[in-house]
Amino acid sequence: SGLHGLDASQLKIIRKGGEPTPLPPLDTLVFGRTFSDHMLDVDWDVNEGWRAPVIRPFQNLSIHPAASSLHYALQCFDGMKAYKDDSGRIRMFRPDMNARRLLLSSQRLGLPSFDELQLVECIKALLSVDSSQVPQKDGYSMYIRPTSIATQPTLGVGPPSQTKLFVILSPVGPYYPTGFKPVQLLADTHYIRAWPGGTGDRKVGANYGPTILPQTLGAKKGYSQMLWLFPEGDDYRLTEVGTMNLFILWKNEQGEKELVTEPLGDLILPGVTRDSIIKLAQKMHDIKVSERPVYMKKDFLKAVAEKRILEVFGAGTAAVVSPVDRIGFDGVDYPIPVDPDNPSAGIGPLAKKLLKELNDIQYGRVPHEWSWLV
Ligand code: COI
Repeated sequence: SGLHGLDASQLKIIRKGGEPTPLPPLDTLVFGRTFSDHMLDVDWDVNEGWRAPVIRPFQNLSIHPAASSLHYALQCFDGMKAYKDDSGRIRMFRPDMNARRLLLSSQRLGLPSFDELQLVECIKALLSVDSSQVPQKDGYSMYIRPTSIATQPTLGVGPPSQTKLFVILSPVGPYYPTGFKPVQLLADTHYIRAWPGGTGDRKVGANYGPTILPQTLGAKKGYSQMLWLFPEGDDYRLTEVGTMNLFILWKNEQGEKELVTEPLGDLILPGVTRDSIIKLAQKMHDIKVSERPVYMKKDFLKAVAEKRILEVFGAGTAAVVSPVDRIGFDGVDYPIPVDPDNPSAGIGPLAKKLLKELNDIQYGRVPHEWSWLV
């Protein structure tokens, strides 16, 4: 088309003066509140294509108040993590998957396409510039937030003609700093996260804003997260939990130990942690792994009544795994075992094993193609 593609070889680096800002004491980090010294910033316009990527000191954005990201949610983002290994080297976890997902999210909104490996190269350069701010401690990492926004200064509703892709970095600690605390879910039948033909399978900000009111109403009733249901016939599919994919380990009706999660489709965000858990669990010989719908009444509540539920957990980049110990549905609270053999456990045996296998790969303790050296 003659337009410039996103090109990491054109990268310009403008460094902040002086020494890098020291990391705060690691135990004071709160998810997403601390940012590194630099950011990546790449502009695009419909006539020229992608401009040269720039790494610059972290700063506020200046955009026109009519920018359509602010009015019509022409905005998408992704989330991934980089880890420092015992030798002080930085490793990204499956960054090609996240860059590819940002591309798919962008395409859904008419935001510009790019070569996803060029984006990964730019992010590697950003991590190198801010390498001293990547924490080196088990459970800690650098959360990477690429974001694409439409910036054209017009209130017209139309395809983006000017956009900005930026990446910011946030040093983060374990989601559960004092050990795993199971969460309580409200399976509400009114609010719906995603629907066929919608954007539930893309990481667009517009999927997240509308979840905050139901989540706040749930919190007032004593639930920490929503269990997102999708109505079908007189039953409901169990789709996602909070901002995470949902996994259920149970003895199925055939008596097999089975790990189930919803199949990918319009209702489900294609999580990188989700995909990794499926692939790791497929290598465990004592469980069957299935991507298939689970219905609230005919499958899940029946399994609860027959005491066949072994573990329920959410899976995502931020918390990795998030065990569940109670689900409220239709005015009734159903206790969920976290670990059937240990009533006081904060995390069940399968979630714990998966978390350890993931961490071993992420921190480079075992060699694996999912861990990319920066
Ligand atoms: C996750 O990693 O689970 C997320 O969806 C990120 C969240 C902060 C939006």
